[in-house]
Amino acid sequence: MPHNKIYIFDTTLRDGEQVPGCKLNTKEKIELALSLEALGVDIIEAGFPISSPGDFESVNEISKIIKNATVCGLTRAVQKDIEVAAEALKYAKKPRIHTGIGASDIHIKYKFNTTREDIIDRAIRAVKLAKNFVDDVEFYAEDAGRADMRFLAQLIEKVITAGATVVNIPDTTGYCLPGQYGEIIAFLKNNVTNIDKAIISCHCHNDLGLATANSIAGVMNGARQIECTINGLGERAGNTSLEEVVMVLKQHKELGLYTNVDAKLLWPLSRQVSEVMRVPTQPNKAIVGANAFSHSSGIHQDGFLKEATTYEIIDPLEVGADLSKIVLTARSGRSALAFRLHKLGYQFNRDEIDVLYQIFLQVADSKKEVMDNDLHAMIPSELQVKEDKGAMAMHA
Ligand code: KIV
Ligand code: ZN
Repeated sequence: MPHNKIYIFDTTLRDGEQVPGCKLNTKEKIELALSLEALGVDIIEAGFPISSPGDFESVNEISKIIKNATVCGLTRAVQKDIEVAAEALKYAKKPRIHTGIGASDIHIKYKFNTTREDIIDRAIRAVKLAKNFVDDVEFYAEDAGRADMRFLAQLIEKVITAGATVVNIPDTTGYCLPGQYGEIIAFLKNNVTNIDKAIISCHCHNDLGLATANSIAGVMNGARQIECTINGLGERAGNTSLEEVVMVLKQHKELGLYTNVDAKLLWPLSRQVSEVMRVPTQPNKAIVGANAFSHSSGIHQDGFLKEATTYEIIDPLEVGADLSKIVLTARSGRSALAFRLHKLGYQFNRDEIDVLYQIFLQVADSKKEVMDNDLHAMIPSELQVKEDKGAMAMHA
C-alpha cells in the first residue's frame, strides 16, 4: 500500500443518489461514471444492485465500460444481496463488493434485535461469501461513529481475518467531532492486530457540518481511503464533499498526503452533477459554489486587486473555475469601481472616480449587485468621452 496516497472512493452514484428526487437512469449513471473516471477517482461505487432492476443494470453497464477505476456494488450482509452484486459486477475489470452490517448497540438492538456475537458471525459469513466471487471485499461497520470501540476493534479484526481488504468506519449519523473520529481510527490502528492487512476507509455524513473535517481527521490518524461525493450530495445532510477533501490535501502539503484527482475537472463535474441530479449547489459552497471566488466587500476587493493571495488561498484556475470575480455591491470600494470601469474601457482620474463613486453608491443601495449596464448608465454625459476606445476593443 503506497503510504501517502489517499484513495478516493466516490459514492455519488450510490449514497449521492439517495438524495430525494435524484434518481438517475442507467444512461445518466454511465455518463457520470465516465466523468468520475476522467477525474481520477480510484473507486466508483456504482449502486446497490439488489435494490432495483434499474440499479442492477446500471452497475452492470458501468462495469463493462470503466477501464481504470475499481467498480463497487453495495450489499447488506445478506446472501442474496452478495450474489446479486457479484452478478452485476461480473464484467468489471476491478470489481469490489462492499458489504456490512450495523455495529453500534443502537443498531444491534433496534435494527437487528440481536447480539454483538451474532453481528460478528453474520459479518464473517458475508465477507467469506463475497470473497468467493471477488478478491477485493470492503466491509462497512455501519454507525461505527457511535459504536463501542472495543467491540468495533473485535469486529474489524474478525472481518480482516475473513478476507476484507478494506474496512470502512462510517460515521453514519454524522455524530462525531473530528477529534473523536480521529480517535476511533487511531484506536483501530493500535488495537487491531491484523490492521496492516487492510486499508481503513472514512465514510462521514454531514449532519453537523463536520463530514470533511472528520474525514481529514481520519486520514491524519492512519485511514487511507475517503468515501465522498461530488458537491457533498447524499443521504440527509449529505456526505463528505469530494472537492473539499481533495483541495484540503492539496493545500496542506505538510500532511504529506495526496490523491490522484485532476483538480481542474472539479468545477465542470460539479456543474454536471448538479444539472443531472437537479440539485442546485449553494452559492457559498466551498471550492465549487458560484461565489467561491467572488469578492464583494471594499476591504477584500482592495487587497485582492493589489495581490490575489491576500484573500484567495486557491487559484480558481486550479479547480477549473472561471477567473475570480469582483462583485460590485454597496459594500464595494473605489478601487473595485475603478478596476471595473477600466475593464469596461473607461479611463478616469482619482477626482472623477470620487464623483462617480458617490453616484455608484446611490445605485448600489437600490440593488443587490451593480452590473455593467448600470455602470454605463450612471456615467454623466460630460464624462462619457473618457471612454478608452483601445480598451473597449480589448474587452469586446
Ligand atoms: O452511511 C453509511 O453507513 C453507509 C454504509 C452503507 C456504507 O452509507
Ligand atoms: Zn452513507
